[in-house]
Amino acid sequence: MNIRQHKIIDSAVAGELVDKVNAMPLGDIDVSDPALYESNTHWPYFERLRREDPVHYCKDSMFGPYWAITRYQDIMEVEMHHEVFSSDTSNGGITIQDGNLGLGVEMFIAMDPPKHDAQRKAVSPMVSPENLARLESTIRERSQRILSSLPVGETFNWVEKVSIELTTQMLATLFDFPWEDRRKLTRWSEVATALPGTGVYETEEQRREELAECLAYFTRLWNERVNAEPGPDLISMMAHSDATRNMGPNEFLGNLILLIVGGNDTTRNTMSGSVLALNQNPDQYQKLCDNPKLVESMVPELIRWQTPLSSMRRTALADYELGGKTIHKGDKVVMWYASANRDPEAIENPEQFIIDRKRPRQHISFGFGIHRCVGNRLAELQLKILWEEILKLWPEPCIEVVGEPKRVYSPVVRGYTEMPVRINA
Ligand code: HEM
Repeated sequence: MNIRQHKIIDSAVAGELVDKVNAMPLGDIDVSDPALYESNTHWPYFERLRREDPVHYCKDSMFGPYWAITRYQDIMEVEMHHEVFSSDTSNGGITIQDGNLGLGVEMFIAMDPPKHDAQRKAVSPMVSPENLARLESTIRERSQRILSSLPVGETFNWVEKVSIELTTQMLATLFDFPWEDRRKLTRWSEVATALPGTGVYETEEQRREELAECLAYFTRLWNERVNAEPGPDLISMMAHSDATRNMGPNEFLGNLILLIVGGNDTTRNTMSGSVLALNQNPDQYQKLCDNPKLVESMVPELIRWQTPLSSMRRTALADYELGGKTIHKGDKVVMWYASANRDPEAIENPEQFIIDRKRPRQHISFGFGIHRCVGNRLAELQLKILWEEILKLWPEPCIEVVGEPKRVYSPVVRGYTEMPVRINA
Protein backbone atom coordinates (compact mmCIF):
# COMPACT_ATOMS: atom_id res chain seq x y z
CA MET A 1 0.00 0.00 0.00
CA ASN A 2 1.41 3.39 -0.87
CA ILE A 3 0.84 6.78 0.67
CA ARG A 4 -1.95 7.81 -1.68
CA GLN A 5 -4.01 4.67 -0.98
CA HIS A 6 -3.97 5.56 2.71
CA LYS A 7 -5.82 8.76 2.00
CA ILE A 8 -8.42 7.06 -0.21
CA ILE A 9 -9.27 4.49 2.45
CA ASP A 10 -9.54 7.15 5.13
CA SER A 11 -11.95 9.35 3.18
CA ALA A 12 -14.17 6.49 1.94
CA VAL A 13 -14.70 5.22 5.47
CA ALA A 14 -15.24 8.76 6.73
CA GLY A 15 -18.08 9.50 4.24
CA GLU A 16 -20.25 6.53 5.26
CA LEU A 17 -19.55 7.07 8.90
CA VAL A 18 -20.55 10.73 8.93
CA ASP A 19 -23.99 9.81 7.53
CA LYS A 20 -24.43 7.08 10.13
CA VAL A 21 -23.41 9.32 13.02
CA ASN A 22 -25.58 12.21 11.89
CA ALA A 23 -28.62 9.90 11.72
CA MET A 24 -28.17 8.61 15.30
CA PRO A 25 -30.35 9.92 18.15
CA LEU A 26 -28.12 12.30 20.12
CA GLY A 27 -28.85 10.45 23.34
CA ASP A 28 -27.24 7.28 21.95
CA ILE A 29 -23.84 8.88 21.39
CA ASP A 30 -21.18 7.39 23.63
CA VAL A 31 -17.66 8.52 22.78
CA SER A 32 -16.05 6.36 25.46
CA ASP A 33 -16.21 3.12 23.45
CA PRO A 34 -12.53 2.06 23.13
CA ALA A 35 -13.26 0.49 19.72
CA LEU A 36 -13.78 4.01 18.29
CA TYR A 37 -10.15 4.82 19.04
CA GLU A 38 -8.81 1.50 17.85
CA SER A 39 -10.53 2.06 14.49
CA ASN A 40 -9.85 5.83 14.43
CA THR A 41 -13.55 6.48 13.83
CA HIS A 42 -14.27 8.82 16.75
CA TRP A 43 -14.02 12.03 14.66
CA PRO A 44 -17.60 12.40 13.35
CA TYR A 45 -19.04 11.73 16.80
CA PHE A 46 -17.01 14.59 18.23
CA GLU A 47 -17.91 16.84 15.34
CA ARG A 48 -21.60 16.29 15.96
CA LEU A 49 -21.32 16.77 19.71
CA ARG A 50 -19.33 20.00 19.35
CA ARG A 51 -21.97 21.29 16.96
CA GLU A 52 -25.17 20.11 18.64
CA ASP A 53 -24.51 19.12 22.23
CA PRO A 54 -21.08 20.24 23.45
CA VAL A 55 -21.88 19.45 27.10
CA HIS A 56 -23.39 16.02 26.51
CA TYR A 57 -24.75 13.61 29.10
CA CYS A 58 -24.12 9.97 28.28
CA LYS A 59 -26.36 8.03 30.61
CA ASP A 60 -24.94 4.61 29.92
CA SER A 61 -21.47 3.39 28.95
CA MET A 62 -19.04 0.63 29.86
CA PHE A 63 -17.63 3.16 32.37
CA GLY A 64 -21.02 4.23 33.73
CA PRO A 65 -22.76 7.58 33.15
CA TYR A 66 -20.59 10.62 32.35
CA TRP A 67 -20.62 14.12 30.86
CA ALA A 68 -18.69 14.50 27.59
CA ILE A 69 -17.16 17.98 27.26
CA THR A 70 -16.02 18.44 23.67
CA ARG A 71 -15.39 22.15 23.06
CA TYR A 72 -12.06 23.82 23.77
CA GLN A 73 -13.43 26.74 25.84
CA ASP A 74 -15.62 24.51 28.01
CA ILE A 75 -12.65 22.26 28.75
CA MET A 76 -10.58 25.30 29.76
CA GLU A 77 -13.39 26.31 32.13
CA VAL A 78 -13.42 22.88 33.78
CA GLU A 79 -9.61 22.84 34.08
CA MET A 80 -9.57 26.31 35.64
CA HIS A 81 -12.18 25.43 38.29
CA HIS A 82 -10.23 22.73 40.05
CA GLU A 83 -11.99 23.62 43.32
CA VAL A 84 -15.24 22.31 41.75
CA PHE A 85 -13.84 19.67 39.39
CA SER A 86 -11.74 17.35 41.50
CA SER A 87 -8.95 15.09 40.29
CA ASP A 88 -8.63 13.28 43.60
CA THR A 89 -8.50 9.48 43.60
CA SER A 90 -10.96 9.40 46.52
CA ASN A 91 -13.54 11.08 44.26
CA GLY A 92 -12.86 8.86 41.23
CA GLY A 93 -9.49 10.02 39.88
CA ILE A 94 -8.47 11.28 36.46
CA THR A 95 -9.50 8.61 33.98
CA ILE A 96 -12.97 7.69 32.73
CA GLN A 97 -12.36 4.29 34.27
CA ASP A 98 -12.79 4.82 38.03
CA GLY A 99 -9.71 4.70 40.25
CA ASN A 100 -7.11 5.87 37.68
CA LEU A 101 -7.27 3.13 35.01
CA GLY A 102 -8.71 0.79 37.64
CA LEU A 103 -5.39 0.69 39.51
CA GLY A 104 -6.71 2.25 42.71
CA VAL A 105 -3.34 3.90 43.45
CA GLU A 106 -2.61 7.45 44.51
CA MET A 107 -0.50 9.78 42.38
CA PHE A 108 -0.14 13.54 42.34
CA ILE A 109 -1.89 14.00 39.00
CA ALA A 110 -4.89 12.54 40.83
CA MET A 111 -4.71 14.77 43.90
CA ASP A 112 -6.17 18.17 44.66
CA PRO A 113 -4.26 21.03 46.30
CA PRO A 114 -2.45 21.45 48.61
CA LYS A 115 -0.90 17.96 48.45
CA HIS A 116 -0.81 17.99 44.66
CA ASP A 117 1.13 21.26 44.53
CA ALA A 118 3.78 20.12 47.00
CA GLN A 119 4.44 16.79 45.26
CA ARG A 120 4.50 18.37 41.81
CA LYS A 121 7.15 20.77 43.06
CA ALA A 122 9.28 17.85 44.25
CA VAL A 123 9.83 16.50 40.71
CA SER A 124 9.72 19.77 38.75
CA PRO A 125 13.53 20.34 38.82
CA MET A 126 13.78 17.40 36.40
CA VAL A 127 12.43 19.60 33.64
CA SER A 128 14.09 22.89 34.55
CA PRO A 129 15.73 24.69 31.59
CA GLU A 130 19.18 23.80 33.00
CA ASN A 131 18.35 20.13 33.24
CA LEU A 132 16.85 20.07 29.75
CA ALA A 133 20.03 21.65 28.41
CA ARG A 134 22.02 18.93 30.19
CA LEU A 135 19.84 16.18 28.64
CA GLU A 136 19.97 17.55 25.10
CA SER A 137 23.28 16.01 24.03
CA THR A 138 22.30 12.61 25.49
CA ILE A 139 19.01 12.63 23.60
CA ARG A 140 20.74 13.66 20.37
CA GLU A 141 23.43 11.04 20.60
CA ARG A 142 20.86 8.30 21.29
CA SER A 143 18.58 9.42 18.49
CA GLN A 144 21.53 9.32 16.07
CA ARG A 145 22.49 5.84 17.23
CA ILE A 146 18.97 4.42 16.89
CA LEU A 147 18.32 6.04 13.51
CA SER A 148 21.59 4.96 11.97
CA SER A 149 20.91 1.34 12.98
CA LEU A 150 17.56 1.19 11.13
CA PRO A 151 17.25 -1.27 8.20
CA VAL A 152 17.04 0.84 5.03
CA GLY A 153 14.88 -0.62 2.23
CA GLU A 154 13.11 -3.12 4.51
CA THR A 155 9.70 -2.98 6.18
CA PHE A 156 9.88 -2.63 9.97
CA ASN A 157 7.71 -1.47 12.88
CA TRP A 158 8.58 2.18 13.69
CA VAL A 159 6.81 1.88 17.08
CA GLU A 160 9.12 -0.88 18.21
CA LYS A 161 12.44 0.19 16.71
CA VAL A 162 12.25 3.96 17.16
CA SER A 163 9.45 5.25 19.40
CA ILE A 164 9.61 2.66 22.18
CA GLU A 165 13.37 2.42 22.16
CA LEU A 166 13.95 6.18 22.35
CA THR A 167 11.35 6.94 25.01
CA THR A 168 12.38 3.96 27.13
CA GLN A 169 16.01 5.08 27.04
CA MET A 170 14.86 8.55 28.11
CA LEU A 171 12.87 7.15 30.99
CA ALA A 172 15.79 5.04 32.17
CA THR A 173 17.88 8.24 32.25
CA LEU A 174 15.23 10.20 34.18
CA PHE A 175 15.06 7.47 36.85
CA ASP A 176 18.75 6.57 36.60
CA PHE A 177 17.38 3.05 36.11
CA PRO A 178 19.67 0.04 35.45
CA TRP A 179 20.24 0.18 31.69
CA GLU A 180 20.06 -3.55 30.96
CA ASP A 181 16.60 -3.78 32.60
CA ARG A 182 15.09 -0.74 30.88
CA ARG A 183 12.53 -2.74 28.87
CA LYS A 184 10.86 -3.54 32.18
CA LEU A 185 9.77 0.11 32.18
CA THR A 186 8.06 -0.36 28.81
CA ARG A 187 6.28 -3.45 30.11
CA TRP A 188 5.09 -1.75 33.33
CA SER A 189 3.80 1.17 31.31
CA GLU A 190 1.78 -1.18 29.08
CA VAL A 191 0.42 -3.18 32.01
CA ALA A 192 -0.61 0.01 33.82
CA THR A 193 -2.53 1.51 30.89
CA ALA A 194 -4.10 -1.49 29.11
CA LEU A 195 -7.76 -2.31 29.61
CA PRO A 196 -8.63 -5.87 30.75
CA GLY A 197 -9.21 -8.34 27.92
CA THR A 198 -6.87 -6.63 25.46
CA GLY A 199 -4.21 -9.33 25.57
CA VAL A 200 -1.57 -7.34 27.47
CA TYR A 201 -2.23 -9.29 30.69
CA GLU A 202 -4.41 -12.34 31.29
CA THR A 203 -5.97 -11.57 34.67
CA GLU A 204 -6.20 -8.69 37.14
CA GLU A 205 -4.12 -10.86 39.49
CA GLN A 206 -1.30 -11.04 36.94
CA ARG A 207 -1.51 -7.25 36.51
CA ARG A 208 -1.24 -6.73 40.28
CA GLU A 209 1.72 -9.12 40.49
CA GLU A 210 3.62 -7.35 37.73
CA LEU A 211 3.04 -3.96 39.31
CA ALA A 212 4.11 -5.35 42.69
CA GLU A 213 7.37 -6.34 40.98
CA CYS A 214 7.67 -2.75 39.74
CA LEU A 215 7.19 -1.47 43.29
CA ALA A 216 9.75 -3.91 44.71
CA TYR A 217 12.32 -3.00 42.06
CA PHE A 218 11.95 0.75 42.64
CA THR A 219 11.92 0.29 46.42
CA ARG A 220 15.42 -1.17 46.12
CA LEU A 221 16.53 1.88 44.12
CA TRP A 222 14.88 4.19 46.67
CA ASN A 223 16.64 2.50 49.60
CA GLU A 224 20.00 2.95 47.90
CA ARG A 225 19.39 6.62 47.13
CA VAL A 226 17.67 7.82 50.28
CA ASN A 227 20.91 7.44 52.23
CA ALA A 228 23.14 8.82 49.48
CA GLU A 229 23.74 12.44 48.46
CA PRO A 230 20.77 13.95 46.51
CA GLY A 231 21.12 13.21 42.78
CA PRO A 232 19.44 14.65 39.66
CA ASP A 233 17.16 11.63 39.04
CA LEU A 234 13.44 11.35 39.85
CA ILE A 235 13.84 8.70 42.56
CA SER A 236 16.46 10.71 44.40
CA MET A 237 14.33 13.86 44.05
CA MET A 238 11.34 12.13 45.64
CA ALA A 239 13.48 10.47 48.34
CA HIS A 240 14.96 13.82 49.41
CA SER A 241 11.85 16.04 49.25
CA ASP A 242 9.71 16.71 52.37
CA ALA A 243 6.57 16.35 50.22
CA THR A 244 7.35 12.85 48.99
CA ARG A 245 9.84 11.18 51.36
CA ASN A 246 7.13 9.65 53.57
CA MET A 247 4.91 8.16 50.86
CA GLY A 248 3.33 4.77 51.57
CA PRO A 249 3.78 1.92 49.03
CA ASN A 250 0.48 2.66 47.28
CA GLU A 251 1.38 6.30 46.72
CA PHE A 252 4.96 5.50 45.70
CA LEU A 253 3.69 3.00 43.11
CA GLY A 254 1.11 5.51 41.89
CA ASN A 255 3.66 8.27 41.37
CA LEU A 256 6.00 5.82 39.65
CA ILE A 257 3.24 4.81 37.25
CA LEU A 258 2.45 8.48 36.63
CA LEU A 259 6.05 9.24 35.73
CA ILE A 260 6.51 6.04 33.72
CA VAL A 261 3.31 6.51 31.69
CA GLY A 262 3.70 10.29 31.44
CA GLY A 263 7.25 10.04 30.21
CA ASN A 264 6.71 7.06 27.96
CA ASP A 265 3.41 6.42 26.20
CA THR A 266 2.58 10.00 25.31
CA THR A 267 5.85 10.97 23.66
CA ARG A 268 6.20 7.52 22.11
CA ASN A 269 2.80 7.75 20.44
CA THR A 270 3.58 11.20 19.09
CA MET A 271 6.82 9.86 17.60
CA SER A 272 4.82 7.15 15.85
CA GLY A 273 2.05 9.55 14.84
CA SER A 274 4.63 11.92 13.35
CA VAL A 275 5.54 9.61 10.47
CA LEU A 276 1.86 8.95 9.76
CA ALA A 277 0.95 12.66 9.79
CA LEU A 278 3.73 13.46 7.31
CA ASN A 279 2.78 10.54 5.08
CA GLN A 280 -0.86 11.57 5.01
CA ASN A 281 0.26 15.11 4.17
CA PRO A 282 3.08 14.70 1.65
CA ASP A 283 3.06 18.44 0.83
CA GLN A 284 3.95 19.16 4.46
CA TYR A 285 6.67 16.48 4.43
CA GLN A 286 8.18 18.13 1.35
CA LYS A 287 7.89 21.57 2.95
CA LEU A 288 9.77 20.27 5.99
CA CYS A 289 12.55 18.79 3.86
CA ASP A 290 12.85 22.06 1.99
CA ASN A 291 13.13 24.00 5.24
CA PRO A 292 14.26 21.83 8.20
CA LYS A 293 13.98 24.84 10.55
CA LEU A 294 10.22 24.20 10.49
CA VAL A 295 10.80 21.31 12.92
CA GLU A 296 10.39 23.94 15.65
CA SER A 297 6.76 24.75 14.79
CA MET A 298 5.98 21.25 13.51
CA VAL A 299 6.53 19.66 16.93
CA PRO A 300 3.62 21.35 18.76
CA GLU A 301 1.47 20.75 15.66
CA LEU A 302 2.31 17.04 15.85
CA ILE A 303 1.33 17.00 19.52
CA ARG A 304 -1.99 18.65 18.67
CA TRP A 305 -2.55 16.33 15.71
CA GLN A 306 -1.82 13.21 17.70
CA THR A 307 -3.40 14.25 21.04
CA PRO A 308 -1.76 11.27 22.79
CA LEU A 309 -4.18 11.48 25.72
CA SER A 310 -7.70 11.59 24.25
CA SER A 311 -9.32 12.40 27.56
CA MET A 312 -8.96 13.24 31.23
CA ARG A 313 -11.66 13.03 33.85
CA ARG A 314 -12.82 15.09 36.83
CA THR A 315 -15.60 14.68 39.40
CA ALA A 316 -17.91 17.59 40.33
CA LEU A 317 -17.79 18.54 44.01
CA ALA A 318 -20.76 20.91 43.63
CA ASP A 319 -23.51 21.67 41.12
CA TYR A 320 -22.10 23.72 38.21
CA GLU A 321 -23.64 25.38 35.14
CA LEU A 322 -21.69 24.69 31.97
CA GLY A 323 -22.90 25.47 28.46
CA GLY A 324 -26.50 25.83 29.70
CA LYS A 325 -26.52 22.42 31.42
CA THR A 326 -26.38 21.66 35.12
CA ILE A 327 -23.65 19.27 36.11
CA HIS A 328 -24.59 17.81 39.49
CA LYS A 329 -22.40 17.22 42.50
CA GLY A 330 -20.83 13.76 42.20
CA ASP A 331 -21.11 13.59 38.39
CA LYS A 332 -18.25 12.25 36.28
CA VAL A 333 -16.98 14.87 33.82
CA VAL A 334 -14.79 13.79 30.90
CA MET A 335 -12.79 16.38 28.96
CA TRP A 336 -12.17 15.15 25.42
CA TYR A 337 -8.91 16.78 24.38
CA ALA A 338 -9.04 14.87 21.08
CA SER A 339 -12.18 16.81 20.24
CA ALA A 340 -11.07 20.21 21.57
CA ASN A 341 -7.97 20.02 19.39
CA ARG A 342 -10.26 19.93 16.33
CA ASP A 343 -12.56 22.72 17.54
CA PRO A 344 -12.78 25.36 14.77
CA GLU A 345 -13.79 28.02 17.32
CA ALA A 346 -10.39 27.72 18.97
CA ILE A 347 -8.08 26.59 16.18
CA GLU A 348 -8.00 27.83 12.61
CA ASN A 349 -8.44 25.04 10.04
CA PRO A 350 -8.21 22.39 12.74
CA GLU A 351 -8.74 19.52 10.31
CA GLN A 352 -5.53 20.36 8.51
CA PHE A 353 -2.04 19.36 9.53
CA ILE A 354 0.04 22.51 9.00
CA ILE A 355 3.65 22.46 10.10
CA ASP A 356 4.12 26.23 10.01
CA ARG A 357 1.08 27.43 11.94
CA LYS A 358 1.31 30.93 13.40
CA ARG A 359 0.30 29.83 16.90
CA PRO A 360 1.17 26.13 17.02
CA ARG A 361 0.99 25.93 20.81
CA GLN A 362 -2.71 26.78 20.77
CA HIS A 363 -3.64 23.19 21.62
CA ILE A 364 -4.85 21.39 24.70
CA SER A 365 -2.90 18.12 24.44
CA PHE A 366 -0.99 19.01 27.62
CA GLY A 367 -4.13 20.01 29.52
CA PHE A 368 -4.37 23.35 31.30
CA GLY A 369 -4.32 24.85 34.80
CA ILE A 370 -2.69 23.37 37.87
CA HIS A 371 -2.25 19.89 36.35
CA ARG A 372 -0.84 21.06 33.02
CA CYS A 373 1.77 18.56 31.92
CA VAL A 374 5.05 18.85 33.81
CA GLY A 375 7.01 17.15 31.03
CA ASN A 376 5.79 19.27 28.10
CA ARG A 377 9.14 20.86 27.28
CA LEU A 378 10.95 17.56 27.58
CA ALA A 379 8.48 15.89 25.22
CA GLU A 380 8.93 18.71 22.71
CA LEU A 381 12.69 18.50 23.00
CA GLN A 382 12.73 14.75 22.27
CA LEU A 383 10.50 15.16 19.22
CA LYS A 384 12.50 18.12 17.94
CA ILE A 385 15.81 16.29 18.19
CA LEU A 386 14.37 13.15 16.62
CA TRP A 387 13.19 15.06 13.55
CA GLU A 388 16.34 17.17 13.28
CA GLU A 389 18.38 13.99 13.19
CA ILE A 390 16.02 12.25 10.75
CA LEU A 391 16.36 15.16 8.34
CA LYS A 392 20.15 15.11 8.60
CA LEU A 393 20.23 11.42 7.69
CA TRP A 394 17.43 11.49 5.11
CA PRO A 395 16.92 15.01 3.75
CA GLU A 396 14.23 13.86 1.30
CA PRO A 397 10.74 12.52 2.21
CA CYS A 398 11.71 8.87 2.17
CA ILE A 399 10.16 7.36 5.32
CA GLU A 400 7.07 5.69 3.95
CA VAL A 401 4.19 4.18 5.89
CA VAL A 402 3.60 0.94 3.97
CA GLY A 403 0.59 -0.58 5.75
CA GLU A 404 -2.31 0.29 8.03
CA PRO A 405 -1.13 1.23 11.51
CA LYS A 406 -2.58 -0.69 14.48
CA ARG A 407 -4.08 1.58 17.09
CA VAL A 408 -4.51 1.19 20.84
CA TYR A 409 -7.90 0.05 22.19
CA SER A 410 -8.45 2.80 24.76
CA PRO A 411 -10.48 5.97 25.29
CA VAL A 412 -7.54 7.50 27.21
CA VAL A 413 -4.26 6.61 25.49
CA ARG A 414 -4.41 7.51 21.81
CA GLY A 415 -1.59 5.66 20.14
CA TYR A 416 -0.22 2.80 18.07
CA THR A 417 1.13 -0.67 18.56
CA GLU A 418 2.27 -0.98 14.95
CA MET A 419 3.40 1.49 12.31
CA PRO A 420 4.87 -0.45 9.37
CA VAL A 421 7.35 1.72 7.49
CA ARG A 422 10.10 1.46 4.90
CA ILE A 423 12.95 3.89 4.42
CA ASN A 424 13.39 4.35 0.69
CA ALA A 425 16.78 6.01 0.80
C1 HEM B 1 3.55 14.61 24.05
C2 HEM B 1 3.79 14.22 25.27
C3 HEM B 1 2.90 14.44 26.46
C4 HEM B 1 1.56 14.73 26.52
C5 HEM B 1 0.59 14.93 25.38
C6 HEM B 1 1.21 14.82 27.93
C7 HEM B 1 -0.07 15.12 28.39
C8 HEM B 1 -0.39 15.34 29.71
C9 HEM B 1 -1.71 15.70 30.19
C10 HEM B 1 -2.95 15.83 29.32
C11 HEM B 1 -1.65 15.87 31.52
C12 HEM B 1 -2.79 16.20 32.46
C13 HEM B 1 -3.18 17.64 32.35
C14 HEM B 1 -4.44 18.00 33.06
O1 HEM B 1 -5.06 17.18 33.75
O2 HEM B 1 -4.82 19.18 32.93
C15 HEM B 1 -0.28 15.59 31.91
C16 HEM B 1 0.18 15.66 33.19
C17 HEM B 1 1.44 15.21 33.54
N1 HEM B 1 2.46 14.84 32.70
FE1 HEM B 1 2.43 14.82 30.69
N2 HEM B 1 2.32 14.58 28.68
C18 HEM B 1 3.38 14.35 27.83
C19 HEM B 1 4.69 14.09 28.19
C20 HEM B 1 5.13 13.98 29.48
C21 HEM B 1 6.49 13.65 29.88
C22 HEM B 1 7.66 13.43 28.93
C23 HEM B 1 6.49 13.60 31.25
C24 HEM B 1 7.59 13.29 32.22
C25 HEM B 1 8.81 13.33 32.06
C26 HEM B 1 5.15 13.91 31.71
C27 HEM B 1 4.75 13.97 33.02
C28 HEM B 1 3.53 14.43 33.47
C29 HEM B 1 3.18 14.58 34.87
C30 HEM B 1 4.08 14.26 36.06
C31 HEM B 1 1.87 15.09 34.93
C32 HEM B 1 1.05 15.44 36.17
C33 HEM B 1 1.04 16.94 36.37
C34 HEM B 1 0.17 17.41 37.53
O3 HEM B 1 -0.79 16.76 37.91
O4 HEM B 1 0.48 18.48 38.06
N3 HEM B 1 4.36 14.13 30.61
N4 HEM B 1 0.47 15.28 30.77
